[in-house]
Amino acid sequence: MTSTQRSLYDQYLQQTRQAADLNGAAALLQWDQEVYMPAKGARFRARQLATLAEAAHELLTADTYGHLLQELAAAALPEEEAANIRLSLEDFEKNKKLPAALVVALSMATSQAFEAWIAARRQNDFSLFLPLLQQIIDLKKEQAARYGYQGHPYDALLDDYEKDASVARLDPLFATVREKLPPLLAAIAAGPQVSDALLRQHFPAGQQFAVSKQILAAMGFDFEAGRQDYSEHPFTTSFSPEDVRVTTRADENDLANLLWSSIHEGGHALYEQGLPVAQYGLPLGQPASLSIHESQSRFWENNVGRSLEFMHYLLPLLAQSFPKQMQGGSPEALFRAANQVKPSLIRTEADELTYHFHVLIRYELEKELISGALQVADLPHAWDEGYQKYLGIRPGNIKEGVLQDVHWSHGSFGYFPTYSLGSFYAAQFSQKLEHEIPGLKENIRTGAFAGINAWLHAHVFQYGRRYRSEELCRKATGSGLSLEPFLAAAQQKYGAVYNLKP
Ligand code: CO
Repeated sequence: MTSTQRSLYDQYLQQTRQAADLNGAAALLQWDQEVYMPAKGARFRARQLATLAEAAHELLTADTYGHLLQELAAAALPEEEAANIRLSLEDFEKNKKLPAALVVALSMATSQAFEAWIAARRQNDFSLFLPLLQQIIDLKKEQAARYGYQGHPYDALLDDYEKDASVARLDPLFATVREKLPPLLAAIAAGPQVSDALLRQHFPAGQQFAVSKQILAAMGFDFEAGRQDYSEHPFTTSFSPEDVRVTTRADENDLANLLWSSIHEGGHALYEQGLPVAQYGLPLGQPASLSIHESQSRFWENNVGRSLEFMHYLLPLLAQSFPKQMQGGSPEALFRAANQVKPSLIRTEADELTYHFHVLIRYELEKELISGALQVADLPHAWDEGYQKYLGIRPGNIKEGVLQDVHWSHGSFGYFPTYSLGSFYAAQFSQKLEHEIPGLKENIRTGAFAGINAWLHAHVFQYGRRYRSEELCRKATGSGLSLEPFLAAAQQKYGAVYNLKP
């Protein structure tokens, strides 16, 4: 770079990282809101978050910043610098479409909606959440209109989480889910069922939490650069690769709940901790996309964490903390218990197969809410109908129904489909890892996860946002997303768990 380019790029670093600092501070306030903040803190916390969001938005939409990016985009920069500028310019042009007033209104509405969602859950009363959800949907519709779209207005919102996702691409994907999964589910339902009694005993929360920290450490989670806490809804957040927080929740009568949600968030956290720290605050220091993020969590949760090999590692660990509960248990019994397939009401506790119907239901409802085909007041009923249609069960209350997920209170419309995309990417990565890492299964049996992390580092973490999901997947696996690896792995795993004839 010439010295002029260097000085312009330094200005770019300065301003982009200032916005990242503000966003990091906001993320910490959000983390605190979900982990520690007392109920009365909500009102002014909403203001504080909105002020930070507005300040970051101002920095990233300033005309001077735009000119700087355009000037740098026209210069011949080295590859990494050029990639940062290209992606920041893309963000700038998108951010520019949103007036500051809309950004502030969304931030205020979502902070308040989160508190209303908590209260509505506690009191099992949707009407406490309804007006704020209505407000958020109105704001999201305005956001979609400001962004602009070619097909469905929902496409504009999908783009916030997953570039290149659209109704036109997702509809056929979910059609495949609707076509291919029911025969496997029917075969499973037709035979003898497996028991999850081994996991459904009394397990004190504190001990569950301690075991999950041991697993996180074995996975490679750096506790010097992160921590785990409790929250209403498990999540991962990052303020930099050197401070990544995961949360979990315990059910003392169901070990699976905390254990696999902790492994799941651990997968997200390894990705955040593995992003290049030299690129802090810049696109190349950010994750590729939400679906790739979710591929990391689902990979650890399901492809590693629910494999038979993993149970050989897990059982002795559990037996140390819960000798009585694990008495007479075997890796095979643990494997069956952890892979029981049963239509259920709660997405985060669903098995790997029915999970995608939970996502499908939310995807269909979101499209209709954003297009205006469905009114918020009719949402609880539409939700229950969706569960009846796809899973054959109905929620007994609103907390197990429409109020179970935090996402809508956050204004995250267009987010859910990335969960299914992530699971499918995970299966494809997992298939590739099996080919490329000799002794992978033996490593998992002994809890030696370094080889897996090295592979993920080389093929995913180090690139940050340089490639979009499909390009990253092609580079890592040789082809774009296919449902085949997921379906093949499902046939194999559930064939073993349920003794199905091939
Ligand atoms: Co996740």
